[in-house]
Order: sequence, then C-alpha cells, then structure tokens
Amino acid sequence: MFNYRGSTALVTGASKGIGEVFAEHLAARGMNLVLVARSLDALESLASRLSDKYGIRCTALNADLADPVSADWIAAELERRDIQVDLLVNNAGLGLSGNFLSHELTQEQGSIQVNVQTLVSLSYLFGKGMKNRRKGGIINIASNASFQPLPAMATYAATKAFVLHFSEALSYELAGDGVHVMAVCPGPTATNFFAGTTTNMSAKDMDSSKSVVEKTLAAYDQGKKVAYPTRFSVRLGTLLPRFLPRSLVTKIAGAATKNMGLH
Ligand SMILES: NC(=O)c1ccc[n+]([C@@H]2O[C@H](COP(=O)([O-])OP(=O)(O)OC[C@H]3O[C@@H](n4cnc5c(N)ncnc54)[C@H](OP(=O)(O)O)[C@@H]3O)[C@@H](O)[C@H]2O)c1
Repeated sequence: MFNYRGSTALVTGASKGIGEVFAEHLAARGMNLVLVARSLDALESLASRLSDKYGIRCTALNADLADPVSADWIAAELERRDIQVDLLVNNAGLGLSGNFLSHELTQEQGSIQVNVQTLVSLSYLFGKGMKNRRKGGIINIASNASFQPLPAMATYAATKAFVLHFSEALSYELAGDGVHVMAVCPGPTATNFFAGTTTNMSAKDMDSSKSVVEKTLAAYDQGKKVAYPTRFSVRLGTLLPRFLPRSLVTKIAGAATKNMGLH
C-alpha cells in the first residue's frame, strides 16, 4: 500500500474536473500537493482551501503543458524549492472533437503535446528519482477511448491508446523497483471536458469525478496496473475490440460518436 501521509503528490490539471477531485482526496489522505495547470487563480484558491482544511503543504504552479519546455521547467522549479515528488498524477488532458481536418494543426499538435509528450517527460523526470529511492508511484489518466480508433476524436483516442500502452509497459519495467505505475481508463465523466463541443450527452449519462477518483484510488491501493473507474456498460465497450475485426470496431465507434453528437 502506498504511504500517502506526509509524502508529496504532483497533480497536473488540478484546476478543475477530475484533477481537482484527485487533489482533494490525496489531501484528505495527508499528502502535500503540487498543483499544476494554466488557471493560477483556481489553483491558488484550491491550494489555500486544502492546506487550511487538511493541514498540508500546497504549491500552485502555473504551467502550460502544451509548451514543450514545461516539464523541464516544473522539475527545475521543484528542485529549486527542494520539493520531492513521491506520487505523480498525470491527469491534464484535452480532446478535440469533430473531423481531424476541421481543426488547426497547431491545436492537434498541442493536444498531443499535453496528452503524450509532457506526460512522458514528467514520467521520466520524476520516475528517475522514484526508481533511485526505490519508492514512488505514477498514475496516468488514459480513457475508455484508449481501446479503439475513434472517428470525430481521432487524435484524442490515439493519444490515450499511447498513454495506456506506455503506462502498462512502464509498470512492468518498474515493478521490481518499488515504483507502482497505473493507467486509468475513465468513461464519460461530468466535467468541463466536453464544454464547447456539440455533445448531446447530459451529466446523468456520465460518471461523477468523485466516483472516478474514489474507484481509481481503491484500484491503486489494490496494486492494479490498470483501473476502470466506470459503469459496467462502458467497461464492456472496452472489451469488444478484442473480439471484433478492427474495421467493424471503427464503424461502431464512428456511429457512437455520431450518436453522442460529436460529428
Ligand atoms: N471527462 C471525461 O469524460 C473523461 C473521460 C476519460 C478520460 N478523461 C481524461 O481525464 C483527464 C481530466 O479531464 P477532465 O474531464 O477533468 O477535464 P477538464 O474538466 O477539462 O479538466 C482538464 C484539466 O487539464 C488542464 N489542462 C488542459 N490543458 C492544459 C494545458 N495546456 N496546460 C496545463 N493544464 C492543462 C486544465 O487546466 P487549465 O485549463 O487551468 O490549464 C484542467 O485542470 C484528462 O486527461 C481527460 O482526457 C476525461
């Protein structure tokens, strides 16, 4: 079982949604926190609320993770402040919906930078210290989109497939070094994730951030390599691609995103 109390977690995308709830639950377990996102005001008010409520130390860092130098900057800033990261929660992420060619190329590349490149860099920069200390954890947020190509969210699903495969391989590599790596595959969750999209899903069709985080941390405490903090029907959907031809899986996924109003 990970020793939460008194150690430090870095949570990316902590300004809202699932990341904010991760911060609250880790603070409740007695962890000091480093909170990262672009919305500094939201981070600072969360940091002050959590440190008052739980008596922990909270540091808010304003970083745009779409900037290729952001991971190096975060690592250098924490070294300068003498803060060691024991648990890394790579939660920040975004998905563009609609056809691939309808977006600006810079938007597509920015999403790959946040979801993949910066996640890899942070895993590397903080994973090294954990391996040397033979103690630590990395929780990477993938998605139920990790399991199949997803027309109308093509780049997003591909980035999340990367996160799942990368995390499972890393979990195997670090298993003997005292570092527990876990991927998380939430289903649709009621956050700001779909804000500004054409989705017709309502909050009642989705999981809450609270249930996602509670199930994720329960899975982490059980030593799981992959967590599926979602309802049975969504979990079932992640299993189908194992049994059906890929062309059929892509057609079904395309019909599903159309049904969700994402085309
Ligand atoms: N909601 C879902 O249905 C769902 C399903 C499966 C997986 N997920 C995954 O869950 C994770 C959390 O998403 P959410 O649902 O909580 O979405 P959200 O409410 O939109 O929150 C996203 C978080 O990521 C941060 N972020 C986005 N771009 C960033 C950037 N360039 N630099 C720094 N931080 C950035 C945002 O902070 P700022 O805007 O303040 O920078 C925010 O804190 C993501 O990885 C997402 O892919 C979500």
